[in-house]
Amino acid sequence: MHVLTVLDHPDPSSFSAAVARKFMDGAESAGHSVELADLHAEGFDPRWSLADIAADSGATAVADVAKEQERIARADAICLVFPLFWWGMPSMMKGWVDRVWSWGWAYDQLDDPERSLQRSRSGVLLIPAGARSDEMADAGYSAALDTAWIKGTFGYFGLSPRRLEVLHGATGSAKRRQSLLERSYQVGRTLARPTSDEEAV
Ligand SMILES: Cc1cc2nc3c(=O)[nH]c(=O)nc-3n(C[C@H](O)[C@H](O)[C@H](O)COP(=O)(O)O)c2cc1C
Repeated sequence: MHVLTVLDHPDPSSFSAAVARKFMDGAESAGHSVELADLHAEGFDPRWSLADIAADSGATAVADVAKEQERIARADAICLVFPLFWWGMPSMMKGWVDRVWSWGWAYDQLDDPERSLQRSRSGVLLIPAGARSDEMADAGYSAALDTAWIKGTFGYFGLSPRRLEVLHGATGSAKRRQSLLERSYQVGRTLARPTSDEEAV
């Protein structure tokens, strides 16, 4: 498969950047080709604009959005890597999702609100987070993210199967971080194939 990894972190020496590299190493070890969209390094503009609104109404996609859509078009699997910020996405990834996965290209909700306009792609979210898993589950954040991202957002994008891997304790000890990096490698190495379009929802 061809695997696109999208990274939102300004610091190449960050834990999140290391997670993205480990994931890609794992994917390559399983024989996949890899491609990285490093949103900060590439200077992606996350601001949804009047030009984006015009494109939603049928005009040609803005050039930087079209470039991202071409990357998605050649990918069979997509992995998003970003640190959990305020129980959600940091602004760069949020803007990439808002602008690139546009109405009329990714989804339209006209005939079948559940179905994406895109072919099925295997999808993984690798999310470093400071919190422990029991803290997140007890407070309801784990269920909230599962609803918003797995049942919501990424279904519209045709990501199927969809896998959410929150890397709890990412600000913890070196030993803890090492085990999370090894997990990221294994997620890449064991990447699922896309569900057939007939089975996907
Ligand atoms: C602005 C900001 C908001 C954050 N919000 C959360 C949060 O809601 N939940 C959480 O578990 N960690 C939160 N964190 C911690 C980050 O997830 C953690 O620092 C990051 O995953 C570490 O990865 P990095 O070294 O690649 O930045 C937050 C950190 C920052 C800077």
